[in-house]
Amino acid sequence: MNLILLGAPGAGKGTQAEMLAEKLQIPTISTGNMLREAIANGTELGKQAKQAMDEGRLVSDELVLGIVAERTAKPDCKNGFILDGVPRTLAQAKALDAMGVRLDHVVSLEIDDAVIEGRMTGRRVCPKCGASYHITANPPQKDNTCDQCGAELVIRKDDAPETVKSRLVVYHQSTEVLKDYYAAQNKLRLVEGNQSIEGAFQDILKALGEKV
Ligand code: AP5
Repeated sequence: MNLILLGAPGAGKGTQAEMLAEKLQIPTISTGNMLREAIANGTELGKQAKQAMDEGRLVSDELVLGIVAERTAKPDCKNGFILDGVPRTLAQAKALDAMGVRLDHVVSLEIDDAVIEGRMTGRRVCPKCGASYHITANPPQKDNTCDQCGAELVIRKDDAPETVKSRLVVYHQSTEVLKDYYAAQNKLRLVEGNQSIEGAFQDILKALGEKV
């Protein structure tokens, strides 16, 4: 099964992608995580992406499509994959179609802008393995420590309130239009994002026609 998770910043795409990956036994492809890793490793890709990410703007379609093409060609994607955070523009969506990427479902996690701030201020991420937590909704077992690799958790630079505002503007201007694009292909599944993590997960499984 090939899936796309759409939604505003903080809608829960990354959280749900990890849960779906485990349930469906297919990998998650998170362009945000791949770009953050490239920045941490000081690669050329990271250098090109850093300023846009720090300012809450989108990285160029060309850079993003390059990493997606490379990643989806890997053998672990042959039974399917979950795209988290891509496509984000009409140009990216059309390019995926042109690349022959077959999609089964596009899940849009629906959430009001007003809820986003609490999600972002409470988010803590692992700089080493990319795992994501929330101080109240999804806390780590040990304070400020990653359950998976033991590293100290940090606040994402682009979770600063002003940057979150810019990211929301970008979402409404450039990404939300993708809902119409995929609705016209009969692939869009709207899921309530403003509920518990487990509740949203169950609703996504139902929308995909999977056993809950
Ligand atoms: P990216 O990393 O993709 O960020 P985003 O889309 O803004 O999404 P987030 O990671 O902020 O949120 P999420 O929806 O995954 O929510 P999460 O599950 O973490 O992109 C970052 C940047 O990279 C972009 O701004 C851009 O510059 C660049 N980029 C990436 N892809 C690109 C592309 N295709 N084209 C161009 N540029 C690109 O949840 C958020 C918090 O809420 C967590 O703490 C979580 O624990 C908590 N939470 C989750 N669900 C719930 C719930 N149901 N109830 C309560 N809390 C919850």
